[in-house]
Amino acid sequence: TSRRPVVAGNWKMNGHLELADQLVEKFATELNSDAVEVVLCPPAVFLSDLSKKLEQNRERLSAVELGIGGQNASALEKGAHTGEIAASMLKAAGCEYVILGHSERRAMYGDTPELVAEKFAQAKANGLTPILCTGESEDEREAGKTFEVIAQDLEKVIECNGKQAFDNAIIAYEPLWAIGTGKSATPEQAQEVHAFIRGHLAKIGDVDADTVRILYGGSVTPDNADELFAQADVDGGLIGGASLVADKFIKLCQLAV
Ligand code: G3H
Repeated sequence: TSRRPVVAGNWKMNGHLELADQLVEKFATELNSDAVEVVLCPPAVFLSDLSKKLEQNRERLSAVELGIGGQNASALEKGAHTGEIAASMLKAAGCEYVILGHSERRAMYGDTPELVAEKFAQAKANGLTPILCTGESEDEREAGKTFEVIAQDLEKVIECNGKQAFDNAIIAYEPLWAIGTGKSATPEQAQEVHAFIRGHLAKIGDVDADTVRILYGGSVTPDNADELFAQADVDGGLIGGASLVADKFIKLCQLAV
């Protein structure tokens, strides 16, 4: 099976529209390939402008498969929820994707596996492709609970969204100890977990698990990406820090081809 790799940049609460300009310039001139799907996930207030920018540069970017995504979405449709953003609004702003259940949101903003599963449902109902993040903490890894933690995240999503939940979704494996630490998982560690995820999906879901893209995230840089992306079950990356530097991000996109 050939899965088209994905490289997604999660800007987190960083970046500015000038970075978007730099990236568009680079994509237009240095990435002449649609063999990788590139996703930019800036803070929500930049989405509409970024979307317009891509539209204005459509001709120049015609060789590139480039989309935008939110970093989170509400589990609810609409209503009195100050500060929240509905999946339908992300869609209206030009998004095709949305990151859900990032560990920072799980750790700091109350994203439980149940809530993430409900956000997943909203995302899909509004035509967005969820990028579901999952991963273990250092303690969980040391206690031998890595697979258990990840299985729980996947199972919750299936419980709430049905066995075909992952028919149009991306998974990002992000070990917590590797996020923003400069200490990436080794290619072997990543491959082991990615293979588990694919196997588990095949077991609990009713989708062709061989078609689901599974990204690795956690201190990916142009120096370690080659080996990580070369693993059989690693289909690209979810990039934090390195997505904020145009030169590095474009390099990562090239390495994924
Ligand atoms: O969503 C991205 C990840 O949290 C990875 O962040 O590349 O800065 O380690 P990082």
